[in-house]
Amino acid sequence: MDERLVSSEADSHESIIEQSLRPQNLAQYIGQKKVKENLRVFIDAAKMRQETLDHVLLYGPPGLGKTTLASIVANEMGVEMRTTSGPAIERPGDLAAILTALEPGDVLFIDEIHRLNRSIEEVLYPAMEDFCLDIVIGKGPSARSVRLDLPPFTLVGATTRVGLLTAPLRDRFGVLSRLEYYTQEELTDIVSRTAEVFEVDIEEAPALEIARRSRGTPRVANRLLRRVRDFAQVLGDSRITEEIAHDALERLQVDALGLDHIDHKLLIGMIEKFSGGPVGLDTISATIGEEPHTIEDVYEPYLLQIGFLQRTPRGRVVTPAVYEHFRLEAPACD
Ligand SMILES: Nc1ncnc2c1ncn2[C@@H]1O[C@H](COP(=O)(O)OP(=O)(O)OP(=O)(O)O)[C@@H](O)[C@H]1O
Ligand SMILES: [Mg+2]
Repeated sequence: MDERLVSSEADSHESIIEQSLRPQNLAQYIGQKKVKENLRVFIDAAKMRQETLDHVLLYGPPGLGKTTLASIVANEMGVEMRTTSGPAIERPGDLAAILTALEPGDVLFIDEIHRLNRSIEEVLYPAMEDFCLDIVIGKGPSARSVRLDLPPFTLVGATTRVGLLTAPLRDRFGVLSRLEYYTQEELTDIVSRTAEVFEVDIEEAPALEIARRSRGTPRVANRLLRRVRDFAQVLGDSRITEEIAHDALERLQVDALGLDHIDHKLLIGMIEKFSGGPVGLDTISATIGEEPHTIEDVYEPYLLQIGFLQRTPRGRVVTPAVYEHFRLEAPACD
């Protein structure tokens, strides 16, 4: 089984399940207190003034609830959400078609917004600022520009890589919200809530155990719960007890901190081949056979967060905590 259990990207089958697990309003959305409080105020204010909500940029590691929050914004505003993504919009005309089809007040959700190409961004600027579209008709000397009015709308952008957004695009968002990794308590609540949706009985201790191994990420928590539920069904009487959960999580090879075989390969590889670093991203990538951007987007953020990796100008370095975790002898200080 080389599928990555704790990977933060959802496959298409999983996306369908996720859909059914998405909280529908801010009150059901667990954690992210600051982001929620701010959005609550902005949404209420916009509704009082009967205006559209300002454009919102949501950023943070995969699986933390950006798409979920975008749909909650639309629900709370009582409008429809249209969804697209940076890579899906290939030509300015594609964006123009989407924008002109919006109803007044709609939310346009652009996922992976850092992957929009420049020529499309330029169409987006006046659309965001003045709700209008400048299109060029014809070619060569007879080309002329026409300005089209658009219905007012709210752009909600999501990205795992806010650093890759151009400054002019970033500046056009009125609300910038950064999602953080969840605490164990919050993840325990999420696990319990998902168990309720699945109509599966779970004790408190195993819910906490799953939360602990979910690397701060609701998507991972929900996925682990689903796997543990399988074990409970086949090996027990469907009820998730502490024993079943522990046994299942051992079999799934997710360690006590939620690290799996790829994290292990990455960290152990850095220690064995490069004495713990510094090592460049490309070298790590070649050593473990994963794309550099996947390492940067998906694997690394959590390892940085728990203090297992550090980024230095000369490359990545493993910290003493890693030696401790794997019970390895740390190299002597020089
Ligand atoms: N605050 C939350 N409360 C309850 N469930 C949550 C919360 N945040 C996320 N989830 C659940 O986690 C799953 C993943 O969330 P979502 O798809 O919104 O993440 P994302 O940030 O958009 O990820 P990606 O960067 O991969 O697009 C969903 O099934 C969602 O129901
Ligand atoms: Mg998403």
